[in-house]
Amino acid sequence: MKKIILTAALCLPLHVSAQPSSQVAWTADQLNFVKAGDPAKGEQLSKTCSGCHGENGISISPNNPSLAGQLATYLYKQLQDYSNGDRQDPMMNAIAKGLSQQDAADLSVWFASQPPAFQSRSPMVYEKAEALVKDGSRDRILPPCEVCHGGDGKGQVMDMPGLSGQNAAYTSATLKAFKTGERHNDIYRRMRLIAESLSDQEIEELGYYYQNIRN
Ligand code: HEC
Ligand code: HEC
Repeated sequence: MKKIILTAALCLPLHVSAQPSSQVAWTADQLNFVKAGDPAKGEQLSKTCSGCHGENGISISPNNPSLAGQLATYLYKQLQDYSNGDRQDPMMNAIAKGLSQQDAADLSVWFASQPPAFQSRSPMVYEKAEALVKDGSRDRILPPCEVCHGGDGKGQVMDMPGLSGQNAAYTSATLKAFKTGERHNDIYRRMRLIAESLSDQEIEELGYYYQNIRN
């Protein structure tokens, strides 16, 4: 009995918390605001990002995500989420808090305009990953990744990011963070619901699979 009460108590805060996953709402005004970002200003501001995200947004460190060619609206949302504390990373929380919304829009538009990352094409075939990307999993009621992230992993519609060419280590790490709930800024839990039912091995493979797609 004690055990049941304890388990219930541990679970409770998760279930009663009604905190929204993100404070960004995609209204027409919000979209137009990001679209109207000034890439020239963004380029200037990006000098402070290049140590970690690379000269033109192609990160050399496998743990830091590349930003080049990513959807501007996705980048903007992440910067707002870091700034509001809805996505946790001590370094990025501090950096994003120091940016105005205009800075964030300028940076997002500039990074989006840069030629996307491409690491290396390994001859490995990632069959499990490919099946998940193209067919999903009926047993687990998982939709194919490409329904949302696009057939070529280029991303689409506002907040569904491009994955192709991204550093495998980063992709796997962020999928694991969705799986444990440490990352929870996905509106409607769209990524957590999926990542929760992926094995760590599948997550690893998916990272390499997407890194090897040329974008
Ligand atoms: C000290 C290193 C460092 C600096 C400087 C830095 N970043 Fe980051 N950034 C990171 C790391 C590490 C992550 C991944 C953190 C995580 O897992 O949430 C990240 C994540 C991001 C993301 C999320 C990307 C995605 O695919 O979800 C964006 C957007 C971003 N940074 C933008 C910026 C911008 C714009 C600047 C400059 C104003 C900047 N960063 C400066 C290290 C850095
Ligand atoms: C129902 C739509 C949907 C499906 C299906 C889906 N995703 Fe996502 N995914 C999203 C959304 C939306 C986000 C952005 C969440 C946010 O706002 O931060 C995302 C984010 C991600 C990210 C974070 C990217 C970054 O730069 O940080 C990765 C990695 C990812 N998805 C991988 C996958 C993989 C692998 C699959 C298939 C197993 C998959 N997704 C299936 C909607 C989806």
